[in-house]
Amino acid sequence: MCGIVGYVGHREAYPIVLKGLKRLEYRGYDSSGVALLNNGKLNVYKKKGKVAEMEEDTLGKDVHSHIGIGHTRWATHGEPSDRNAHPHLSQSGELAMIHNGIIENYAHIKQELLAKGYTFKSDTDTEVLLNFIEDIKINNNCSLEEALRIALKRIVGAYCILLISKDDPETILAARKGSPLVIGIGKGEHFLASDASPIIEYTKEVVYVNDYEIAIVRPDELILKNLGNEKQTPFITKLDMELAAIEKGGYDHFMLKEIHEQPDTIFDCLRGRLLPQTGQIIMSGVDNHIEALKNAQRILIVACGTSWHAGLIAEYQIEELCRIPVEVEYASEFRYRNPVVNKGDVIIAISQSGETADTLVALESAKEKGAFIFGVVNAVGSSIARLSHAGAYTHAGPEIGVASTKAFTGQLAVLTMMALKIGYAKGTIDEKRYLGLMKELEAIPEKVKEILADTSNIQRIAAKYKNASDFLFLGRGYNFPVALEGALKLKEISYIHAEGYPAAEMKHGPIALVDEKLPVVFVATKDSYYEKIVSNVQEIKARKGMVIAVATQNDDIIPGMADDVMFVPDTDEVIAPLLSCIPLQLLSYYVGVEKGLDVDKPRNLAKSVTVE
Ligand code: G6P
Repeated sequence: MCGIVGYVGHREAYPIVLKGLKRLEYRGYDSSGVALLNNGKLNVYKKKGKVAEMEEDTLGKDVHSHIGIGHTRWATHGEPSDRNAHPHLSQSGELAMIHNGIIENYAHIKQELLAKGYTFKSDTDTEVLLNFIEDIKINNNCSLEEALRIALKRIVGAYCILLISKDDPETILAARKGSPLVIGIGKGEHFLASDASPIIEYTKEVVYVNDYEIAIVRPDELILKNLGNEKQTPFITKLDMELAAIEKGGYDHFMLKEIHEQPDTIFDCLRGRLLPQTGQIIMSGVDNHIEALKNAQRILIVACGTSWHAGLIAEYQIEELCRIPVEVEYASEFRYRNPVVNKGDVIIAISQSGETADTLVALESAKEKGAFIFGVVNAVGSSIARLSHAGAYTHAGPEIGVASTKAFTGQLAVLTMMALKIGYAKGTIDEKRYLGLMKELEAIPEKVKEILADTSNIQRIAAKYKNASDFLFLGRGYNFPVALEGALKLKEISYIHAEGYPAAEMKHGPIALVDEKLPVVFVATKDSYYEKIVSNVQEIKARKGMVIAVATQNDDIIPGMADDVMFVPDTDEVIAPLLSCIPLQLLSYYVGVEKGLDVDKPRNLAKSVTVE
């Protein structure tokens, strides 16, 4: 949520910052801006809308500089507008700052500053923080670094900030708490960004800045300090990511590319871990903590959005295969409702970005209460990955499309392996079932490939139903969370109102919505609920609803009842969601495309929600 980029070094800063902002646009895209220093002049250009609009606005203007900071915004305080776009300038015009996060006590600080005669050009908490820093610098007659340190000790909330000053064209000051910051180390240059994607083409050596650290970044120098002004040793990590992974590679949209990558990303996730030939599942995070996991009295799964849906599927898997009670919690609810967390409880945190603020803070408080935290995370080195006691990466690679697709199937693959491993260690599944499910899981990438080989039928269905104003998604058992995910995807991408429901529960309310205009998507693959869901389809047809079904290949009943069918290969019901979610991802993608919408950057959404 909000992307930030910075550069200081021997090259022209603007093209690097601009390219970086385009890479980070998935984090927010309601406005963007840059601040550049040239010959003692601080040039700030900012504009409502996408980065391309800001870029157009800078044509013919002075963008020469060897130091620059840039921001792409997802509005929190203040509507999207030129005036609320970052960077902000301090009252004196000497300082420029960008910020990702929320300063919770900004109103109180603003009051103090207003009383001192400060005026504000924007409605943002960022401008308040910047003037607060400037005020401290003037009153204490101290360095900017010292003023920043004092200010950070007084503020409450989350931040990643980059700050430059007219009188120091060689230095970017950066700080983080709760919002991510990566610094790329080049030769005589440094790159700063919310994630590694703006950095990857220049250097693979990066430092992930920790919470409560300040970075003093110059062309030849990177100094990290804590808020107590003590130097910290930067820990240099090698990026394991290729440039191609963050480019569209011939696809029209990142979302489509990421949907089509799934045979490979699931394969990568299973590779070296799932070994049906030897009957082993190797996951060091699980192996090293197998006692804690198999003896857990309770497992709590904490997540948001699509990751929460992966958690629901894991609940069904873990309860069935491991006989451990599981509760799945929205992170935002979990953290505020004073939940019961006992020492010895296992918490599984699921997150693509590893930076979702609600999930992160929920984990921090659970960790304090003595829970064991296991992270299922995609972004390597992210905050949730680092906070967890143990974990397993999903290895889906960078996911850029705002709507999560390949990260979701990666999460399902990891969670399935975990459930199998724990269940087998506990003795709650026998060897036959364990090996059988391993083999089924191993076959999933090829089966996903089969679904993706011809998507023309799904495109046709999308075109047919694109003008519907509402959709209902229904499923039972393992396919109930898939129905929820299908509805979420459609809402996100096509702005069509959609609801997911357990197919049987539909009779207790949503059935009142059914008429000849309502498309009802049934996730009705062959499983132990199959007969029941066939009856549910009949209930909808009897009320003239339009039925689109996700059905198993060779099913000869559902196709006779449904108006349209999207087929998936057969598999065990425990892992059926890995297949049944794919047609629904494609359906929402193509409906969005049919409606001419920006599927990679749906309105109001952001990929990485780093505010609560
Ligand atoms: C946002 C994204 C969703 C994602 C959710 C949780 O809402 O748009 O795609 O599922 O955040 O994010 P996480 O990174 O924690 O999985």
